[in-house]
Amino acid sequence: MQPSDIPTRERLIVALDLPAVEQAEAMVARLGESVSFYKIGYQLAFAGGLPLVRKLADQGKKVFIDLKLHDIGNTVSRGVESIVKLGATFLTVHAYPQTMKAAVEARAGSELKILAVTVLTSYDDADLHAAGYRLGVSDLVEARAQQAQVLGVDGLVCSPEEAASLRRIVGHQIHLVTPGIRPAGAASGDQKRIMTPARAIAAGSDYLVVGRPVVEAADPKAVAEAILAEITPPLAA
Ligand code: C5P
Repeated sequence: MQPSDIPTRERLIVALDLPAVEQAEAMVARLGESVSFYKIGYQLAFAGGLPLVRKLADQGKKVFIDLKLHDIGNTVSRGVESIVKLGATFLTVHAYPQTMKAAVEARAGSELKILAVTVLTSYDDADLHAAGYRLGVSDLVEARAQQAQVLGVDGLVCSPEEAASLRRIVGHQIHLVTPGIRPAGAASGDQKRIMTPARAIAAGSDYLVVGRPVVEAADPKAVAEAILAEITPPLAA
């Protein structure tokens, strides 16, 4: 699917960052038809949440498995082969060349799309330096995006601040998926590079990943609907 063909409602991916499957299922029921794409990450996956992938897929929802794989190529390949069978739409891997190559090869012929995480959105230059990297955030994001494109990765997870410059580098064939989204007035939490939903879409994001602002809201459905309403005008522009 070309980025321009994505239905508006599918552009909001709600991160089910919740401690138990029952809570996740209750949140999905509360959100109802407003949300059609969910992300399952460490917290829920390691609390028995992986069978929820098939369950949600069978209900017509799309699921993004955000386990940010990174291991030797053979282990990544075998893992991706198992994930293909769960019925997920997106899977994240860290943007290391060996890892991206193994994941792309192992998902060949399936519906699963591989997203590479360039640099975590909670990282700034000082965090990268502390982790032993010589490059700052923008240079490392750019280098990893170029490698991802060469290796046939389907999409990139990046900060919305990087979306516009990444579009210039990777063109329109690669999906840009952006966490670090905060509706005006929401707490930033540990995210250091954040943007509002409308600005992120205008900057070139295809999919917005939103966790705490939705799942911790008093009225999650109202927040989800407000985000969808906010991104409709920039998508039409
Ligand atoms: O609660 P919040 O909206 O900050 O959640 C963002 C979600 O996106 C979390 O599940 C987080 O793990 C994920 N994520 C991120 N930064 C990345 C990749 C994924 O924040 N680079």
